[in-house]
Amino acid sequence: MTALTTLDVDRAAARAAVEATADEAFLARFDDQFPRLHDLFTRLYGERADGQEQLSATVAAASASWSTRPLDLKVRDAQRDPGWFQSERMLGGVCYVDRYAGNLAGIRDQIPYFRELGLTYLHLMPLFDTPEGDNDGGYAVSSYRRVSPSLGTMAQLTELAAELRLAGISLVVDFIFNHTSSEHEWARKAVCGDPEFADFYLIFDDREMPDAYERTTREIFPDDHRGSFVQLADGRWIWSTFYHYQWDLNYANPAVFRAMAGEMLFLANQGVEVLRMDAVAFIWKRLGTACESLPEAHFLLQAFNAVLAMAAPGMAFKSEAIVHPDEVVSYLSPGECELSYNPLQMALTWEALATRDGRLLQQALDRRHALPPGTAWVNYVRSHDDIGWTFADEDAAELGIDGYTHRQFLNRFYTGKHEGTFARGVAFQENPATGDARVAGTGASLAGIEAMDAGGEDRFVLAHALALSTGGIPLLYLGDEVAQLNDYSYRDDPVRRGDSRWVHRGNRPRDRYAQRNDPATPAGRVFRRLTKLISVRQSTPEFAGNALIPFHTPHAAVVGYQREAVPASRVLVLANVGDVEVAIDPLTLSGFERGAFDLVHDTELDLDEGLHLPAHGFVWLRVTPL
Ligand code: GLC
Repeated sequence: MTALTTLDVDRAAARAAVEATADEAFLARFDDQFPRLHDLFTRLYGERADGQEQLSATVAAASASWSTRPLDLKVRDAQRDPGWFQSERMLGGVCYVDRYAGNLAGIRDQIPYFRELGLTYLHLMPLFDTPEGDNDGGYAVSSYRRVSPSLGTMAQLTELAAELRLAGISLVVDFIFNHTSSEHEWARKAVCGDPEFADFYLIFDDREMPDAYERTTREIFPDDHRGSFVQLADGRWIWSTFYHYQWDLNYANPAVFRAMAGEMLFLANQGVEVLRMDAVAFIWKRLGTACESLPEAHFLLQAFNAVLAMAAPGMAFKSEAIVHPDEVVSYLSPGECELSYNPLQMALTWEALATRDGRLLQQALDRRHALPPGTAWVNYVRSHDDIGWTFADEDAAELGIDGYTHRQFLNRFYTGKHEGTFARGVAFQENPATGDARVAGTGASLAGIEAMDAGGEDRFVLAHALALSTGGIPLLYLGDEVAQLNDYSYRDDPVRRGDSRWVHRGNRPRDRYAQRNDPATPAGRVFRRLTKLISVRQSTPEFAGNALIPFHTPHAAVVGYQREAVPASRVLVLANVGDVEVAIDPLTLSGFERGAFDLVHDTELDLDEGLHLPAHGFVWLRVTPL
């Protein structure tokens, strides 16, 4: 075993191991990336006896991966402009392979539809081999190199990636690297005491350490088990943040990093273009802390990023951190994750619709939207997960809002318990000890379409108009474009009834897709309006990038911002989250030339006459600043 020493010595050791076989392109990237990888390894594994050995082995794996990387992917790497995901043409879609299309062959058959919709990015929910029965919707992975047999094969996934690429669509899959399923080979070997794997997970003989950790950790899936550990059949305790069959990996062991980097490199060479980095906040544990978003979690992501930059330089990471907004943004940098979900904008869009008050959302857009260069938000209205009210209490307090009671209100509102609510949602993971809960439900059901509320369709379209115009990659939860409603059948399914998120994970709604061109149906109307917004977005250069210039009106119900393209050409977005019409007076709009163009309705407007925004109405106006 060899420990890390100095950069020069360790670089010479790592380079010597690959020099004979690596090409110049790889060696150039090695020279570029190795110093930072070494620095990160030193911070993470400086004390470990096997630090240098694992670092050299990781570099050797990267080199071997590059040498077998298919030529078309190398061409893609070379052609990729670093800001490719900033384009106004970007549009993401996400779906479950089985629920949306049966299997991978079915997804392939949907490519013409994806093109019709304008997708440039397709996230297929976890499709790897998992335990039979309950597997957290695929998030309990038994092998990263095998596709679940019911969905297809790895060869089919590779072909699909190539076909999508030809259609201008980047394939996105999950990299579920915080944990494996309890049936993964590493897990089985660890439990049996195989010395190579014994230290791959966090296993303790008695409750002493689990109790000590649990004094400061949060319960994530309290319906499944209390605390952060579950008991093994032999009486020992294993770290398990999510379901009891999802075991957290021990990244304090550099062999775990090396092994996972190998799985990542394998996926990279199948033609995946973006990896969705699952549950990033949880990947490093330290006693006496919440074990969330520790500095080492960032070092680990940066180390994975450096390995990928050596072996698959055209790829990007998307962070999934559904935590305090300060933490969410901390994962975004070109050397860590280039992309991140924007859970704050998502949650506050729903918050604004419930309260008919846009101020919290406006505040978030004003001060929490900006990002480092070379990074972008993924903006969405709904995902496969629950909605957690992850706004900052200190932000809410500035507006006189108490975070705790406001969350209680939002949970009641969106689970149908608040009188007069338009929403039909279901509680997820209610924790009686803390009063915490989250909300499940499809976007259409939460917006009021299921309850046949008069404003339902307008609200739902408004939410998308925000996600489509605030920059980065807008991500459509497929089925939403035809206003898919809740599916309550999970309650009769013994495997799914314990997880209410299945309420918004229904099968592809064939009937609604069949109605998508019929304006007499909600599906047809929503589809027509959303596809119009998509086509306007994709032909409006102001919507590229992420930068946003705030715009304030005197109305609490109105959210405003401007998007700018070079040379100075602006789009002003105004959205009324309230239930009553708002008149914007000419003075508020007097910073612009009077002639403006409404991009959604293709009409000229005279701003000297002011502007009427109907209930749940919005405008995308091309304006000229004076
Ligand atoms: C992520 C996924 C969620 C899953 C969890 C555990 O948060 O989005 O669906 O339950 O990770 O893998």
